Amino acid sequence: MAINPDLLKENFRRVTVENGGATAFGLRFYERLFEKYPAVKPLFNTPPEEQHKKLIASVGVIVSGVTKLDMLVPYLHAMGIRHLKYKTETGHYPAVGENLVAVLGEHLSAEGEFTEDMSANWQEAIGVVANVMIEAAEAPEKYADELAEHGYQPDGFKASNPQPWLMDA
Ligand code: HEM
Repeated sequence: MAINPDLLKENFRRVTVENGGATAFGLRFYERLFEKYPAVKPLFNTPPEEQHKKLIASVGVIVSGVTKLDMLVPYLHAMGIRHLKYKTETGHYPAVGENLVAVLGEHLSAEGEFTEDMSANWQEAIGVVANVMIEAAEAPEKYADELAEHGYQPDGFKASNPQPWLMDA
């Protein structure tokens, strides 16, 4: 199934306004992640109250970037490489993807509906995002030129931007 970018955007808009908005969504994301996948909890040093803001911002960038792949692909390569510092492994991605879709389901079903088509659309999109991050994390040296062209250091961070999960203007 092809990804439907408009449906992702509309669902994300609903995340920010329904059932307590983005904060409730983000806090529930980490609560459920740590309950269901306790093995990943020790990787996180930043408290969920802070961490969820970065996650929501990056999901926003990704959702609006699905139609601007020339920008989004280097952003995701850099993010995948940064995750090496956080000790993320390839095998963790399915857990985070499953958790995201499950929490979207809880959140968007509280006031409206989360249909099978929406679920499939998010699973497809998260699968692509994870694969693009993983391909760079598994061979970071191959991406050094691309990252440099977009202002990233070889470790995926940006000297010019302490918040690399936000897209530069
Ligand atoms: C599926 C795509 C994912 C997205 C969009 C995402 C997003 C983010 C963002 C925006 C940050 C903030 C720091 C930065 O941008 O460098 C971050 C940090 C982090 N992520 Fe992810 N992430 C993903 C997958 C994963 C996976 C699979 C794991 C494994 C458990 C993970 C674990 C972490 C950890 C441990 C941190 C650092 C937390 C800290 O500061 O203590 N992430 N992630």
